[in-house]
Parts: sequence; structure tokens; C-alpha cells
Amino acid sequence: MRISVVGCGYVGLVTGSCLAEIGHEVMCTDNDESKIQTLNKGKLPIYEPHLDAIVSRARQVGRLAFTSNASEAIGAGDVIFICVGTPPLETGDADLSAIDGVARMIATESQSSKLVVEKSTVPVQTGQQLKRALAAYSHGTKVSFRVASNPEFLREGTAVQDFLHPDRIVVGVDEVSTEQQLREIYKPVLERNFNCPLHAPKCPPTVLPPFIVTTINSAELIKHASNSFLALKISYANALADLCERLGADVEEVTRAVGLDPRNGPNFLRAGLGFGGFCLPKDVQAFIRLAERAGMDFGLLKEAEQINRERIARFMDKARHALWVLKGKQIGILGLAFKPHTDDVRFSPPLELIRQLLGEGALVSAYDPQAMEKTRAIYPTVRYEADPYSVAFGADALLICTEWPEFAALDWPRIHASMARPMILDGRNLLDPAAMKALAFEYHCFGRNE
Ligand code: UGA
Repeated sequence: MRISVVGCGYVGLVTGSCLAEIGHEVMCTDNDESKIQTLNKGKLPIYEPHLDAIVSRARQVGRLAFTSNASEAIGAGDVIFICVGTPPLETGDADLSAIDGVARMIATESQSSKLVVEKSTVPVQTGQQLKRALAAYSHGTKVSFRVASNPEFLREGTAVQDFLHPDRIVVGVDEVSTEQQLREIYKPVLERNFNCPLHAPKCPPTVLPPFIVTTINSAELIKHASNSFLALKISYANALADLCERLGADVEEVTRAVGLDPRNGPNFLRAGLGFGGFCLPKDVQAFIRLAERAGMDFGLLKEAEQINRERIARFMDKARHALWVLKGKQIGILGLAFKPHTDDVRFSPPLELIRQLLGEGALVSAYDPQAMEKTRAIYPTVRYEADPYSVAFGADALLICTEWPEFAALDWPRIHASMARPMILDGRNLLDPAAMKALAFEYHCFGRNE
């Protein structure tokens, strides 16, 4: 099928390149000219595992192209996936101006009728507005538009895997023909009938993903409901961690046992610095606002948000308690990305931590395998080091802020010998407290027997 993708952020890039990978002809566009130039030079504007290989293969075989000419891109597809950003406004509502702008562009540039698919995370009833907008902006022309919601469940760091091997594909439609067209697009994934680039020679035998057909409103709600539920689980684990600290229990032991009940599930129960990134925080906020507008006070989510906000303050308290005065202290930060396997630092807990540490006069040095360039643009006064050992050298404390697996495998005796004061504050409960104590570190973490 011929598909256009509008918006080349991580969702657009993963969606476009994976659709090309499973056999479609895809043209992507973005209003950021420099992004398109980077992509046309064969480079990626973001770090996402496996994405470079998929993009370059799809371009080589001529199934994937990037253009800054929106009208060319829109003309190229029978189906248009909208993947533009919906950042939070001051009020907490999602800013839908980019979607509105794309609707106008599609309506005025299209020479033929098309299916327009919302991939961007949007509040419920956006699809209805989109339909109205497309009809109004194309008034007087012969083209018409169908609209569908097809929320993405792509986690940064594993987005390619999530696209090609999803847990479920949700489509919100109001016409059978739209459902059929979307089923056709996803057929290779639904039947696992493509040469999977992740699992050569063969994918592991797992159940095929269900194709869930709903109304457009339900599909939009499913996305916010999913992300908000994940946020609830994380905040619950963090509240448990605080309680464990007060009562002398171990949150890792508690959440492990809680998670073994399939009704609870083992995932998203990791206590620590809390949830960040461009999705969970803004989606929870937008969901709260959406409920408010519908006349409901979603206090449950407000509490989850509040618990999350307090994580940094609690970590700062731990640092103050351990180091007494922060001013003039040399603090090493390991991890800047909001989670491992990405270079994304948007709403990243470590960045808020750095802001507060700098505010108190600490001297901050930092290392992250992927996210240093993006952090440098925000905090130029931090000293960025080439490896974790240089960050630890001479430091009064080492703060683990992102659980990159390589941090767990560091040469900790070497680090111990090189620090001014061998102290670790583990914001992600990455290390084993007993092992760290055995190495004579002063070790602090969240909710475990230290
Ligand atoms: C999230 C959802 O997981 C995806 O399903 C969704 O498609 C995506 O948002 C989106 O809306 O586009 P993502 O933002 O990539 O994906 O990150 P998550 O893996 O959900 O992690 C979010 C934050 O929660 C990270 O800061 C992570 O460190 C934190 N987290 C996660 C915890 O603190 N504890 C946990 O147990 C799990």
C-alpha cells in the first residue's frame, strides 16, 4: 500500500520505517527541514536500537523516502498516518495545534480521497474534530476523507520490537472499509509473515497479536488509559518503597512477590526516581484534564502524579542527609536519559535533579552512553565525561539516575579506590546493597535494607 507519514519524531520514524519493512511504500515528511536533511544523508536524528538498520535497508530497496515537501508526501499516500507531537500546554491539556495544522495541509494538498490515521496520542473526541476539520478545510473540493485512530504502544528503546511484535493492534473506526484497509496494512504483522530483522532466521514462537476493533473514541481512550495505568503502577511501587523504608521491609522483595500474581503482573513495579519521558507525564496530565472537562475529578491519577513529583525531592533529601552540605561538593551523575536505551532527555528525572543540585551549588559531572549531547544543550556548565570512571574520580558521591545495564557491570572496586568519598546514591535500585556494602561503599537507595 502507498502510505504517507507526517511527523518524523520517534513515533513517525519507527512507524514509517517498520511499515516499509513489512512491504509498504512509505513517504515521510516533517516541517523541520534539518531533520529531513539529516535523514536524507543516511543519519538518524534520534538514537533508537535497530532503527538505523531498518531505515537504511528500506531506503536502499526504495520503499522509504523522506521529503520536506509536504504536498509531495501527502500526494504519495492513499493512507496518511499523523505522527506529530502533542506536547502539554500550561494547563496540562494536550496542544493539538500541530494536528490541526496537518489536517489543513492534508485537506488542501490532497488530489484524491484518503484514509487519515491518528497515531499521535490525542484526547478522546479528537477524531471527531479531525473529521470536521478535514471536511471544512476541503470544502468545495471533490476529495473526501475517512478517519481512524490507531494508537501506538511503542516504548522508546524497544520501539522497533514493539511495532513488529506488538501485544495488540488497536484500531478505532466507524466504517467497515476502514477496518479492512487497516487490517490489510498490518496483515504481515498479524500473520507474522515478514522477514523479521530482529530475529534471524526465525522469530520465537509467541502468540499472534489480536487486532482490536473499537469506536474511534474508545481507541483514543485506550491509549490514555494504558499509559495512565502504567503510571499508577509505578507510583504505587514508589509509595510502597517509602513505606518499606519506614517499616524496615524491602521493596524489591515485596514487589517481586506482588508481581508474581498474574492479576498484578511483574512489570512497571520498579521503585526509584519515578517516571519521566515525553509520554507518561504528559499523558497522565492530559487524562486528568480530559476527565475534568467531562465533569470528573480523577483524584487517583492526581495522587500518582504527586507521588511522582516527590521522587526527586526525596532523592535530594537522601543526598543532603548523606553529604550534609551540597554546596561545593563534587557530585557524579550516571545516567541522563529518562530510561535506558534511548538518548531522550525530555522530562527526564535526572535533568530535574541536576537543576536542583546546581541550584544548591554542587559541582556536577555526568556520563550517559547516549544522552550527553542532548543534555549539554540544556546544562552547558555540567562537566561531561567520556566514561563512568572519570565521573567517579574524586567525587564525593555517585548518583545512579538511569539503569543502563552497563552501569551494573562496572569495576566497582576501581571506582571505590578513585572516589574522594566512596558513596553511592542509587536512584534506580540498580545495584545490590549487600555487595556494595561488602565493598565498603556508603550506599543509599529507595526502599531496600541498606
Ligand atoms: C510509554 C509506554 O510504556 C508505551 O507503551 C507508550 O507507547 C509510550 O509511552 C507512548 O505513549 O508513546 P516510554 O515513554 O518509552 O513508553 O517509557 P516507559 O517504558 O513507559 O517508561 C516511562 C518512565 O517510567 C521511565 O522514566 C522509566 O524509568 C519509568 N519506570 C518504568 C519506572 O520508574 N518504573 C518502572 O517499573 C517502569
